[in-house]
Amino acid sequence: MEKMKLMALYTHFRKDLNYIEKELERSVDSSSPIIRQASLLLLRAGGKRIRPIFVILASKFGKYSLEEVGKVAVSLELVHMGSLVHDDVIDDSDMRRGFKTVKARWDNRIAMYTGDFIFSRALTSIGEIEIPEVHQLLAETMLEICKGEIIQIDYQRKPEQTVRDYLRRIKRKTALLLSSSCELGALVSGADQATVRRLRRFGYFAGMAFQIIDDILDITSTDEELGKPAGSDLLNGHLTLPIFYIKEDPSFQFYMERSFDGTLTEQERDQMLTYIRRSGGIEKAQAVSDLYLQKALREIESLPDGEAKKAFEQIAAFIGKRNY
Ligand code: IPE
Ligand code: IPE
Ligand code: MG
Ligand code: MG
Repeated sequence: MEKMKLMALYTHFRKDLNYIEKELERSVDSSSPIIRQASLLLLRAGGKRIRPIFVILASKFGKYSLEEVGKVAVSLELVHMGSLVHDDVIDDSDMRRGFKTVKARWDNRIAMYTGDFIFSRALTSIGEIEIPEVHQLLAETMLEICKGEIIQIDYQRKPEQTVRDYLRRIKRKTALLLSSSCELGALVSGADQATVRRLRRFGYFAGMAFQIIDDILDITSTDEELGKPAGSDLLNGHLTLPIFYIKEDPSFQFYMERSFDGTLTEQERDQMLTYIRRSGGIEKAQAVSDLYLQKALREIESLPDGEAKKAFEQIAAFIGKRNY
């Protein structure tokens, strides 16, 4: 249902997305059957395709060429997919996009190589773009994602950290890729500098909201909806925004300690989730996400009206309310 709503927002760009979808399939083809199968399964499992749509929409503010834009969009979705394959190793996750993860279906070694393979194909795709700035930006973005995941490991199971630490982490691991999707889309279509800057900032703010909502959903959704146990972030030792508002509560600390040392029972996990849901932390985190979305919308306010701007606005609204 939610997926249908999102796909409806893509309507005007369906043709472009279909082209990108075919290019994605082509780009993960490999002579290694395991690597091809692993990549194709993840690709065909779907996903929201937020990064490619951001590339397309941002490109509409310059001189649009689907062939050029497609190379960038394919590359960004592949960087995203590669990072998911690796992320599921780090987070020990068995389900992704409703299917078994590469690491669960095969093993961690295959997942490492599949992720690397997908990254390499991302570089092949963008390699055809002859704008040096584009390559520099993508390389920096990949570096930052990597740093974000490493910082997250540094902060794992450490109760003494601040909201600022959290925001810095999600900026790197999520927001920058969305920001770069917009920036690269605008750059490749030759949009003017001020427009590139606005779109980059739009992507960044929308990306911050996107990850905050992802972290809220980890607490408010059911295991079935998530395809992994609700509360996985805490079980994995990660503090997310709603938790910062309650982590000093003595009754919550009991759950947090047990989550971190792996002794939380199923029943206690349910109690913990109920506790968080009733604590007011979710609403506070939602309010922070709303603020980011307002900032995102303000960035594109002055850009020319049209289907692309409308779609950006609608997707921002979707991000704030999504449960998919
Ligand atoms: C998942 O991203 C990882 C995060 C940055 C939260 P998405 O929620 O965009 O994943 P797909 O592509 O739709 O599966
Ligand atoms: C994913 O972060 C971010 C990257 C892939 C870099 P999460 O671990 O929070 O995302 P999910 O919940 O597994 O999709
Ligand atoms: Mg993770
Ligand atoms: Mg994960």
